[in-house]
Amino acid sequence: MAERNEAAIATTETGRTVRIAAVGDLHVQEDAQASCRDLFREISREADVLVLTGDLTNLGKPREAEILAEDLRTCTIPVVAVLGNHDYESGAVEDVAHILRQAGVHLLDGQTTEIKQVGFVGVKGFVGGFGSRMLGSFGEPAIKAMVAESVSESMRLENAMRQVRTERTLVVLHYAPVVETVAGEPLEIFPFLGSSRLAETIDRFKVSAVVHGHAHRGVYEGRTPGGAPVYNVAMHVAKPTGRPYALLEI
Ligand SMILES: [Fe+2]
Ligand SMILES: [Fe+2]
Repeated sequence: MAERNEAAIATTETGRTVRIAAVGDLHVQEDAQASCRDLFREISREADVLVLTGDLTNLGKPREAEILAEDLRTCTIPVVAVLGNHDYESGAVEDVAHILRQAGVHLLDGQTTEIKQVGFVGVKGFVGGFGSRMLGSFGEPAIKAMVAESVSESMRLENAMRQVRTERTLVVLHYAPVVETVAGEPLEIFPFLGSSRLAETIDRFKVSAVVHGHAHRGVYEGRTPGGAPVYNVAMHVAKPTGRPYALLEI
């Protein structure tokens, strides 16, 4: 896998390689037939850290978060996560976050955490579109509010990046920072899948890799304009592992 080679270069001076399993968009439901327990057991054997890139629940219900928290009992490695738009749907995001934090999840929302000498920086991100076609702050207050939210998420990412003290850094997002990894989705919804403002922020720092979800029909691999590798790890996206999760070595 390409990321293994990059990772080897990145870690020659910084100690042991850390294996990170990353998956997004579990969309845990109250009445789901399948649980994530076997998946978490498998990941615990394969990786040192599990990263979840949002849409942890399907409708943001506390009961869904409780089911996920229960399933995570089979996960024996540290878990880092960000929330996704679905986790906000029921207006109970604080309860959802509390349940997951009580279960030991390092839930990041503009913060950073260090595990095994890797800095994990997480924000959800927001919509807005990509490149020169990004939505600008013009016209109705509702449009300006939308752009302000997108800018705010990027600023929160920047503030969190400034806290990082590690050589190796993984940025964890829900929304996409580049257009490449949403390719395959309908063109009409590209502006709702992420924002280049996130990549502009990322490129001001030294970042080992970026993972995101949200674009279920996107593609696995991309890169920021500054060269940081970006991986869309939404569960439904085909990955080199042939499994629902990606394995990154950084
Ligand atoms: Fe999703
Ligand atoms: Fe989403």
